[in-house]
Amino acid sequence: MQSLLSDESDPIARMANLAALLHQEMGFWWTGFYRVKDNELILGPFQGPVACTRIALGRGVCGTSWKERRTIVVPDVEQFPGHIACSSESRSEIVVPVWHHGEIVAVLDIDSRELNTFDAVDRKFLEKAAALIYGPQRDIWLAAGCFWGAQKFFKLIEGVEYTEVGFCNGWMKDPTYEQVYTDQTGHAECVHVHYDPAMVSLEKLVRLYFQIIDPLSLNQQGEDVGTRYRTGIYYEDEGDREILSREFLRVKESLGVEDMPVELLPLSCFYRADEYHQDYLDKHPDGYCHLSPALFSLARSRNDLP
Ligand code: SME
Repeated sequence: MQSLLSDESDPIARMANLAALLHQEMGFWWTGFYRVKDNELILGPFQGPVACTRIALGRGVCGTSWKERRTIVVPDVEQFPGHIACSSESRSEIVVPVWHHGEIVAVLDIDSRELNTFDAVDRKFLEKAAALIYGPQRDIWLAAGCFWGAQKFFKLIEGVEYTEVGFCNGWMKDPTYEQVYTDQTGHAECVHVHYDPAMVSLEKLVRLYFQIIDPLSLNQQGEDVGTRYRTGIYYEDEGDREILSREFLRVKESLGVEDMPVELLPLSCFYRADEYHQDYLDKHPDGYCHLSPALFSLARSRNDLP
């Protein structure tokens, strides 16, 4: 996909070829884009049977993905309240936002004629595919103690397009919050940050990250104690490691230490936490947070850190 798109910068041409490639190679029923225009979604490049042309914010799976600013996986369209049936053949569906400069500008919608077609792996790679349209956009996973405050912090940074909280780098498959809370699953609470590198650099994200943790505290941030509250930065691209190592060295030098208990590792797994924990402090502004309010002003400010 990357090489297919690299010679062409026009987003509609990119959408057209991406839809064609996905559709042909994966054998989906309908594969295409709806673009945001004048406060509604309008049918864009697609492959498959004719489809409805306009979808309002919050309507159907597409309008819900746009409104809630997240990917939506629908194992059975009959069970999704408000699903818009452009074709009665469609049984399951996935809708992935397409981001540009911090806004959703389109959604990638894929329909299948079978139930339960899309899983976490499809979701991950289709998000990467959607990120190519205006991309390349990038991802990093940051563990900074309790993920409620950390998500609120990273969401405020200009250039961060999307965040979600979850559990990373443990051994148990698909753990629940309660299981992670026992400290027996090996996971760290972390924030997945999807960002536009043209707007915010990885260095800046890491520098801001070090403002919200105590890098010398092992398995404790604020009042929260346990291996699930350990600190760490987890990457997917080896290329990020060099930048991250440099930043780690800088912090160690400024603290005058040889070692600090902040992990720097490849991401081995990430499981999204349930909706209750997503954007928790937006839903509960007086909820528990181990970070001081001044840090949120820092995240909001557009000035570069020293
Ligand atoms: N099912 C979508 C409408 C678009 S078609 O699937 C092509 C929805 O509920 O938003």
